[in-house]
Amino acid sequence: MNDICAIILAAGKGVRMRSKKAKVLHPLLGRPMIRYPLDAARKAGAGKLAVVVGHQSEEVVEAVSAPDVKVVLQPAQLGTADAVSKAKAALEGFSGTALILCGDVPLLNGETLKKLLAAHHGADALVTVLSMTPPSAKGYGRLLREGGALKAIVEEKDADEETRAINEVNSGTYAVSLPWLWDALSGIDSKNSQGEFYLTDIVARAAALGRVQSVLMDDWSEGQGINSREQLAQANDAMRQRINRRWMEEGVTLEDPATAWIEPGVVLAEDVTIGPSCRIEGTTTVGAGTRIDAGAIITDSVLGENVHIKPYSVVNQARLGNGVEAGPFAHLRPQAELMENVRVGNFVEVKKSKLYPGVKANHLTYLGDATVGEGTNIGAGTITCNYDGKNKHQTLIGRKAFIGSNTSLVAPVKVGDGAVVGAGSTITRDVPDGALGVTRAKQQTVENWTLKTGPKSREE
Ligand code: UD1
Ligand code: CA
Repeated sequence: MNDICAIILAAGKGVRMRSKKAKVLHPLLGRPMIRYPLDAARKAGAGKLAVVVGHQSEEVVEAVSAPDVKVVLQPAQLGTADAVSKAKAALEGFSGTALILCGDVPLLNGETLKKLLAAHHGADALVTVLSMTPPSAKGYGRLLREGGALKAIVEEKDADEETRAINEVNSGTYAVSLPWLWDALSGIDSKNSQGEFYLTDIVARAAALGRVQSVLMDDWSEGQGINSREQLAQANDAMRQRINRRWMEEGVTLEDPATAWIEPGVVLAEDVTIGPSCRIEGTTTVGAGTRIDAGAIITDSVLGENVHIKPYSVVNQARLGNGVEAGPFAHLRPQAELMENVRVGNFVEVKKSKLYPGVKANHLTYLGDATVGEGTNIGAGTITCNYDGKNKHQTLIGRKAFIGSNTSLVAPVKVGDGAVVGAGSTITRDVPDGALGVTRAKQQTVENWTLKTGPKSREE
């Protein structure tokens, strides 16, 4: 078997993005663009990846950092051949096949690269070019043939009218044999209309040895590069649709695939249903039979089976057990752990708290830095006062307790098993197991109040 590595070019400035951020860092479904070609190369079997960076390299280095990645610097953007030559030291001693990819072509599939490699190895070629036939060839290098055989790639700026009429173009993706590539690069000059060192010149060199070929992409849109914000939005949409199609094939119902946003790191089980305008982000996993209603945003969370997230809830870094119901308008924040069959209703916020099975907090509540025992009922408007302006403190509530509505639990404080807190209380001292804690002032009732104060004050 042939050893496979990849060289990913990402040193270009990306001027047309009109951005302070390097082009390859702009996200597609929450992930920097550059990560897609890296993943495609990995899928195709590349064991080592050399990423060539220039502009804003520090942030790019951070975005691609992984054990199989080596980042190399191209100090000046002298052309694609110069960029590739910078990867030589990082791939020292490697003899096999190098995939060469562009960091700004994120839609390219691992499967397409596998086909490219199979063709490359099948023909014993030195270079195999992945070509495409887009609706407009404008801006691309043209594949020049003689008697059907590929002879060279001619850049548009160097092409005569006849060559410009060719509609088969270079996608900028290649399979190239090493170490032949390094020798070929050392012979390339910059005598062309742009004064750049063109990687595409290796094609004519391999052609002279009769060892070059091209593979035509089935769907040219995979090869579409991103140069502008409009193309970024189009690619984002294409990627989103690709992911959505895959999940529907895997047994997920998308009530409105046109608005469902499922990021590439998400894992969904069978019979998950996702409503319109939902975003399922990051590393979220969702168990079988779970339903996520319209407008919910779920990030880096674990949802069990048969969970029901009701409309417009926001869930971030939370864990929800089987049968949990949350929302509408619930806000579950980092380290919220809701065990089986917990129910939180509208305008309930939970942060860094563990709710044991069957806990109910159905309305207008904040639970932060709290533990709530099995089967406890939290009344409407309950607030854990967890912060004293300097430190955060714990609220511990036992099993089968009952917290009356509009209660403030001033932490650190404990409410025992089976204890009851009267509505409207401000609890500052522990309530033992089975006890009643109540702090509200006695109600005063003044008879005939309105008669004494007269009609005038009633009008006001
Ligand atoms: C290149 C190809 C062209 C092909 C097109 C496909 C050459 C000479 N031409 O043209 O045949 O049709 O891609 O999109 O290769 N880069 C560097 N360092 C540099 C120059 C470029 O890292 O010095 C990187 C860019 O960041 C980009 C890639 O190489 O990821 C392609 O460079 P770009 O300038 O976009 O090449 P094109 O003119 O589009
Ligand atoms: Ca380009």
